[in-house]
Amino acid sequence: MRKRLTITNVKKMKQERNAISVLTAYDYPSAKLAEEAGIDIILVGDSLGNVVLGYETTIPVTIDDIVYHTRAVARGAQHTFIVADMPFMTYGVGRESTLRNAARIMQEGGAQALKLEGGVEIADDVAALVKAGIPVMGHIGLTPQSVHQLGGYKVQGKLEEEAERLLLDAKALEEAGAFSIVLELVTEPLAALISKELSIPVIGIGAGRGCDGQVLVYHDILQYASPYYEKKMVKTYADIGSTIRGAIESYVDDVKSRAFPAEEHVFGAQPAALDALYGGNEGQQPQEELKKGVRLT
Ligand code: KIV
Repeated sequence: MRKRLTITNVKKMKQERNAISVLTAYDYPSAKLAEEAGIDIILVGDSLGNVVLGYETTIPVTIDDIVYHTRAVARGAQHTFIVADMPFMTYGVGRESTLRNAARIMQEGGAQALKLEGGVEIADDVAALVKAGIPVMGHIGLTPQSVHQLGGYKVQGKLEEEAERLLLDAKALEEAGAFSIVLELVTEPLAALISKELSIPVIGIGAGRGCDGQVLVYHDILQYASPYYEKKMVKTYADIGSTIRGAIESYVDDVKSRAFPAEEHVFGAQPAALDALYGGNEGQQPQEELKKGVRLT
């Protein structure tokens, strides 16, 4: 059985140019399958708000949601490093509440690290969490919790001042003690530059080939959604949504046509048990007409 990575291993992977694979998971089976497939890090992302809970943004996701899903993931992936998202407004609004919320996800959820969105403006919170012994992954670029501020899901860092700010944000997070950062929807040259400038691993999503690792959403790589919308930054590896829909259609057809259950799905009974059920006396033959359709073993 493989050993769970530590933040020391993760940082070493960057030095050794060993690309880091990260995938989101939100429940026991997805976590177990990701672990069995050899993923390096599982992220219990607040993207669960979109892909599992059906919200339009990640903003409604609560600490309780993250704790609940992280617990299930921790049960499924006992040998994989698990990072959980701190949801919208559970940090950056007072040091004490940041620490209290972080403690809940670590203690009740069982994560090994937390991810926070933001740069310079949350660097003090990151430093406080690290000081409290909690490994922190930063997240800059397109930060979905700020989607309304950013004016939509748009590529970041295209303009000179945006690019400069992102580099400053990345450096501030490294300085504050983050063990890695996620860079989302950033131009490839800028992401490559930031990855080169930082000593901690940069995990890209829609940030190109120069990053130290990649993260994608479980439901995206599997097209586990209906309808599934193609995204440029995603490579899909299976079409689970169509497979599931097709399987359920077949089940509905089978029930309607009475093809299910078939002989192999039913349980027979001993004649004596049937006698008792149908009111027959011991030694007497059960009433055949009542038992019609019941297979005796
Ligand atoms: O919530 C999430 O899944 C994320 C990844 C997309 C990086 O933050």
